[in-house]
Amino acid sequence: MRSLIAELTVIAGSAHVLSEPDVVAGYATDWTRRYAGEASCVVRPGSTEEVAAVLRACAGHGVPVVPQGGNTGLVGGSVPPPAGWRPAAGPAAPAAAAAPVIVSARRLAGLGPVDLAAGQVTAGAGATISGVAAHAAAAGMRYGVDLASRDSATVGGTIATNAGGIRTIRYGPTRAQVAGVTAVLADGSVVSDLSGLTAGSTGYDLAQLLTGSEGTLAVITAARLRLHPAEQAGAVLLAPAGGMAQAVGLYGQIRVGVPDLLAAEYIDGAGLDLVCRITGLRPPLAGQARAYLLVEIAGPAQAAAGSVDLNRLAAAGLPDDSAVETSERGMAALWAYRERLTESIAAAGVPHKIDVAVPVGRLADFRAGLDETIRDAGAGPAEIIVFGHIGVGNLHVNVLGPDPADDRVDIAVARLAAAHGGRVAAEHGVGRSKTGWLSWSMPAAQISAMASIKAALDPAGLLNPGVLLPG
Ligand code: FAD
Ligand code: MLT
Ligand code: ZN
Repeated sequence: MRSLIAELTVIAGSAHVLSEPDVVAGYATDWTRRYAGEASCVVRPGSTEEVAAVLRACAGHGVPVVPQGGNTGLVGGSVPPPAGWRPAAGPAAPAAAAAPVIVSARRLAGLGPVDLAAGQVTAGAGATISGVAAHAAAAGMRYGVDLASRDSATVGGTIATNAGGIRTIRYGPTRAQVAGVTAVLADGSVVSDLSGLTAGSTGYDLAQLLTGSEGTLAVITAARLRLHPAEQAGAVLLAPAGGMAQAVGLYGQIRVGVPDLLAAEYIDGAGLDLVCRITGLRPPLAGQARAYLLVEIAGPAQAAAGSVDLNRLAAAGLPDDSAVETSERGMAALWAYRERLTESIAAAGVPHKIDVAVPVGRLADFRAGLDETIRDAGAGPAEIIVFGHIGVGNLHVNVLGPDPADDRVDIAVARLAAAHGGRVAAEHGVGRSKTGWLSWSMPAAQISAMASIKAALDPAGLLNPGVLLPG
């Protein structure tokens, strides 16, 4: 290992090879604190060429690599496995017993000029989502992915997880924004197409293949991203609902009556109560509800109340006791109840976070069976908080109480989603937490095809072993 660290130091410079145990531990522990592993060191390359040299060096020593961006992932995919973890034998199992090297892309943070005619920009993999958004906004454009981790989550990490977020109903997930990538394969070879050409019928689309690959096929170093014309929010509303069925019903009516939706989010009453308790925010409505629907509608900047057609909302069945805000400040205040959920839950304990997708028409059935499913999992007392991106059927089931190492509630919830025609992972990825669960919502032939792709591109199994596919 010492000779590999010496090689990495020559490649990236001593300031960018970190081996101090406390520092390494910070990179090797995930945002939730539920996943922590052992790494030999952290290397922070400053260019695609340096990433290629780092991967060649690691391959030469047979040492696994964990690609990392902002380390805001919630499924353990951005951190190495715990000490003593060994992959199962197989074509994609690494020969090495050495702890992985974390390759941080954070220094690859450059942003190219915004191409207004193409509606595209080239961004380094380490650029943050808020950085890309501000850069696009300065040119009068908008980046389609937005999420509460925007100040830390990176372009590379969001591509690797195919992140969704709060604008998915308007612009689609990250996959829909990716027009090309530069990436380094396990053997150090570089694949790159940042031309931004959307016309092309020249075989496999590597950029799309790497989107959602969770660091198991390549280290992404840059991307060509699609941008959208800037749209301003004109109104944000928070409506009480009697439960998930009513929230879905109201969402459907608003969707038909109001075509310009920028976001539609669901929050359990328990989630809103927790945010108020942890952050000190005052409850937004006079009464308490079992559930809430938060909707953002496009409209002119600094809209006066009349510029978003509130009559259309009334016709869509918006309850009278809903909050509707049209000023920048008021809209941000309503968003805070949704945006501060994740930090509030984490402040209350180490959560089990189960990100699933269920067809919108079956969300109410899924929610109706959820509490009993969690109770029957037998992992002890549980505080359940459900919220998520209702418009795309993406729910986040958060469970506080059960031991972080006990995954019975996680399994039970993911199986419930699969039984409702859903998916075991919607936007956070499979990571280390859900490997082995793919078959619950994916045909065996598809998993086998993914394993073949992995074996072809990374035959020694050195890239993020144990993530996405079982080792
Ligand atoms: P990391 O956490 O560093 O890595 C995530 C995965 O990508 C790992 O498997 C890693 O190996 C891989 N990876 C990272 N960089 C590269 C690279 N350059 N090349 C190859 N592989 C790479 N997610 C959503 O989808 N929607 C949300 O609304 C959302 N909200 C969040 C809110 C909060 C407060 C937090 C803490 C997280 C949230 N997340 C959300 C989860 C997280 O932000 C996303 O998964 C994000 O895509 C991770 O980006 P990152 O740069 O932090 O990646
Ligand atoms: C969100 O939608 O806020 C995120 O996916 C984060 C989370 O699930 O906690
Ligand atoms: Zn989410």
